[in-house]
Amino acid sequence: MSSTDELCVPPDRPIHPLLAARFSPLVFDPDHVLADADEDGLLEAARWAPSAGNSQPWMFHLRRRGDPGHDLLTSRLASSSARWAPTASALVVNLAHRFVEGTDWPYSEFADYDLGQAVAHMTIQATAMGLSCRQFRAFDLAGLSGDLHVPDGWVVVSMTAIGRSLEEDASRQRRTPAELRLDGSDRRDPLGR
Ligand SMILES: Cc1cc2nc3c(=O)[nH]c(=O)nc-3n(C[C@H](O)[C@H](O)[C@H](O)COP(=O)(O)O)c2cc1C
Repeated sequence: MSSTDELCVPPDRPIHPLLAARFSPLVFDPDHVLADADEDGLLEAARWAPSAGNSQPWMFHLRRRGDPGHDLLTSRLASSSARWAPTASALVVNLAHRFVEGTDWPYSEFADYDLGQAVAHMTIQATAMGLSCRQFRAFDLAGLSGDLHVPDGWVVVSMTAIGRSLEEDASRQRRTPAELRLDGSDRRDPLGR
């Protein structure tokens, strides 16, 4: 991150309360249990994400804490994520349909992009349910992919820990609004003006 980062908690410009409330906790309530209806709601939210050509190149493997198969997921966590992910109410493996089966041809140029949108939908749905998510890559990707017998053409991209946060909020930093713009104040105008 650059030196122009500014602390924006809460956001200094009005955005939807769900977006403003979302953050990625590192402490989950070990007593919270994800209800069946909540699990369904999270997957339903992902289902309605936009995707290129409506290809919907996403799949999820969700295990609640205590469910059979949850220990398999925790066994593949990196030492960093093993400090906080096991107490989340559920762990979700996020998969993208990256290749046409049996080939190295892209199934969709946008598979990973679209998966990210579906995960974002799930994350905001979780926020609406009073839950929090931390997406992460700190796990043994090759080992987990083998454990899950990932279908041909599909790849594991990331995981999400979902649960009730025991943190009020986290310290969060963001690039400035100007840095988001191609023609931001510290950059050349792309039209050469
Ligand atoms: C694709 C992706 C991978 C991430 N990987 C990790 C990770 O391995 N470990 C971790 O603690 N957080 C991980 N995060 C969480 C980010 O660090 C976090 O979203 C970021 O610091 C912004 O904080 P916020 O979500 O609270 O706004 C990941 C997030 C995304 C979207």
